[in-house]
Amino acid sequence: MNMETPNTYFRIRLSTMRPEKVTSFNIYVYMDQKYYLYLKEGDKLSDGKIEVLQDRDSGASFFVKTSDKETYRAWVKEEINSDLIPPHQKAKILRESSLSMMEDLFEVPDVNQALDDAKPIVTDFINFMETNPDSMHFMLSLSGHDFYTYNHSLDVSIYALGLGSVLGYDKKTLHDLGIGSLFHDVGKRNVSLDILCKKGPLDEAEWAQMKMHATYGLQILNNHPLISDAVKAAAFEHHESWEGNGYPQQLKGQEIHPFARIVALTDTYDAMTTQRSYNKPMSPMDALTMMKEKLAGRYDPEMLKAMHSVLFKLKAS
Ligand SMILES: [Fe+2]
Ligand SMILES: [Fe+2]
Repeated sequence: MNMETPNTYFRIRLSTMRPEKVTSFNIYVYMDQKYYLYLKEGDKLSDGKIEVLQDRDSGASFFVKTSDKETYRAWVKEEINSDLIPPHQKAKILRESSLSMMEDLFEVPDVNQALDDAKPIVTDFINFMETNPDSMHFMLSLSGHDFYTYNHSLDVSIYALGLGSVLGYDKKTLHDLGIGSLFHDVGKRNVSLDILCKKGPLDEAEWAQMKMHATYGLQILNNHPLISDAVKAAAFEHHESWEGNGYPQQLKGQEIHPFARIVALTDTYDAMTTQRSYNKPMSPMDALTMMKEKLAGRYDPEMLKAMHSVLFKLKAS
């Protein structure tokens, strides 16, 4: 019997499963430090069973073998293209299945492999947004209520794609922007979990560590042979400020790469509107108002305007 390494399985969420749809892979449940076969390839879950299980599914219990990852992805793709599923359900499947890839980005030891695995998420999102004009609205209405870095990264990427479309980016640029925003916090892999998860304010030394994530991100991406300079800039420069008092390089205005200016905006917006352990989320309108009034000096004014129209369009749809 093979040794089971932490990479042998990846998490899935039952909310990606549709009742009565036959699966093309085995699903395992993790209990008492062991994986047990839960649903055999070719079997299906009934509606009632999914409902009961979902109440208990914190996103931590159900797994698919890593060797079945391609099969799982193909299965998700088939669901996304099915005529039988309404767009809001498709958005949910796409978002939830992407979350498991994002967890890998922050957790598996082979970061280059995880970066490669995460790239198709962006292609899937762009294609989905093209074929389902209301998809942004659906995607963002699913935004998580917790503040895991991978959840956050996914949301920042979705907002950035919305902003990029409003700014008139072509498909190739949009794809690169999606990757850059998805990877913007990848440097947090090198920041200790105690600091990342600390409840309450960080002390000076912890804050200095936290700020290093921009530089760590650049280092990680530099070690990957196929990452563009624009994607690296999104990670390295996303905490720079339009007025020049950001970090780590104190760049200002147009010196900051446009991708990093976009991430700066969508990053703050997502942080403000998402539930974190120590603060209450702000409403979209309150967050945007605060960014336009109190924080305006931090952002590219044209992009701040565009962000308004992304959110306004969302509200109207
Ligand atoms: Fe960051
Ligand atoms: Fe971030």
